Amino acid sequence: MSAQGGEERVVVLDFGAQYNQLIARRVRECGVYSEILPYTTTAARLREMAPRGIILSGGPASVYDPGAPRCDHAIFDSVIPVLGICYGMQLMAMMLGGEVSPAERREYGKTTVHVVGHSALFHGLEGHLTCWMSHGDVVRTPPRAFDVVATSESMLTAAMADDARRLYGVQFHPEVVHTPWGMQIFRNFLFGICGCEGRWTMASFVGQAVEAIRAQTGGGRVICALSGGVDSAVAAVLVQRAVGDRLTCIFVDHGMLRQGEAEQVVSTFGEHFQMNLVHVQAAGRFLERLRGVTDPEEKRRIIGEEFIAVFEDEAAKIGEVEFLAQGTIYPDVIESGSETAARIKSHHNVGGLPQTMKLKLVEPLRTLFKDEVRAVGHELGLPDEIVYRQPFPGPGLAVRILGEVTWERLETLRAADGIFTQELASAGLLRQHAGPESPCPAGTAQAFAVLLPVRSVGVMGDGRTYAHAVALRAVTTDDFMTADWARLPYDLLARVSNRIVNEVAGVNRVVYDVSGKPPATIEWE
Ligand code: XMP
Repeated sequence: MSAQGGEERVVVLDFGAQYNQLIARRVRECGVYSEILPYTTTAARLREMAPRGIILSGGPASVYDPGAPRCDHAIFDSVIPVLGICYGMQLMAMMLGGEVSPAERREYGKTTVHVVGHSALFHGLEGHLTCWMSHGDVVRTPPRAFDVVATSESMLTAAMADDARRLYGVQFHPEVVHTPWGMQIFRNFLFGICGCEGRWTMASFVGQAVEAIRAQTGGGRVICALSGGVDSAVAAVLVQRAVGDRLTCIFVDHGMLRQGEAEQVVSTFGEHFQMNLVHVQAAGRFLERLRGVTDPEEKRRIIGEEFIAVFEDEAAKIGEVEFLAQGTIYPDVIESGSETAARIKSHHNVGGLPQTMKLKLVEPLRTLFKDEVRAVGHELGLPDEIVYRQPFPGPGLAVRILGEVTWERLETLRAADGIFTQELASAGLLRQHAGPESPCPAGTAQAFAVLLPVRSVGVMGDGRTYAHAVALRAVTTDDFMTADWARLPYDLLARVSNRIVNEVAGVNRVVYDVSGKPPATIEWE
């Protein structure tokens, strides 16, 4: 996706900090289209793109490290305003002749800066302000023509400005919520300094994305793996807007979906959006391969492999397909970029098909966060049940059935999970209600039932039972990397437990999972 024609945009050059995606997002929140590009992007390329401003992100390196990332020097002479954040400011200082060195004392976390002088960057801000810093290096002497426009507690350069050349640097992180006035810095930079108007909206995103997809695909045929999750759903509807009948969606029902899920996908996409939808009922094929398998990784591997086999069979039937549309979103891009992280689980994303398929990828949501994707879905008229749907793993209920996956056990779990979901929905708890800023979100970001491989003794009526146990799992989380167990009301848990034991044959015990992530993971397998 890219800004078209006269659309104003701001480019963030990526030096590797963990908050970079937040910078682009804050800019978009100000109504200015923003995208992240590698720090190696040349000034010539940037001039062609004609952004209204450039932001140099933070990063883990020290500017004086051998091999430390540097941007093209000509960027500072390009007449485009530049804002350096943390490493970005240190780099700008060093490349323009200032002095950067390690601080005697690292500044990490909440701190105070003092605004001095009058710079366009601090317009409307004055005195002592709380902000968030995380750095080991400092700008000792700003380059010539720069003024120090904010100092930190240790009297170091917290911000520098060359208003004449419109070059700015801040040592703190205006993009994080712990810098409560950070948005004012972005507004000052975007509107006061870069002259942006801030008219970009999610509706403009849809228009831009549709044009970009048309340009990329020409007259070619596109296929899309539809899982029923929000990302692939939004990607499919966007691509359909762009290419109409040249899109075919393939929905592989592996038999491990939640209650009512397949029907909903077929009615939403096939009937409501009138898509070319191939609904492959492949439960038999998957269950056959899963027979006798109990190891979690083995289950994931088999399902991933079989999914690809089914998908390839269907794609071959359609014939002459050139493009594969996927609902890859920004956090997926970041997570797959990690080469050092230990493998905890092999994530099988139904969109993650092998490159050997030789299809060119169409990924219109690559730059967006989940909540932005939901906003696009809303804009496209997708129903709330899909737009606000909780994440569901590619291997489906197979990783929520501990032990062997059989049709009977799937039906038991579907029924129990259906009850939990219905009760959460009627209590308004099937969504997480507070944003990332809230220390204590309510509702659930993800909630489901798990079928345990144990039986226990119970008593029902006057008789002894020896039946299965179901665990309820509900978490609050913003990023699914860490999570806390949801403090669900006891009354709700009581109702769910009662209904499951009474309505689901073969279950006589319900337990609630009170483990956080870490040490547990969200899914049980
Ligand atoms: P864990 O269990 O690792 O899960 O804490 C984190 C998030 O990822 C989802 N998940 C998956 N999603 N394919 C997916 O598309 C997978 O194989 C997969 N495994 C886990 C999980 O539901 C949670 O939201």
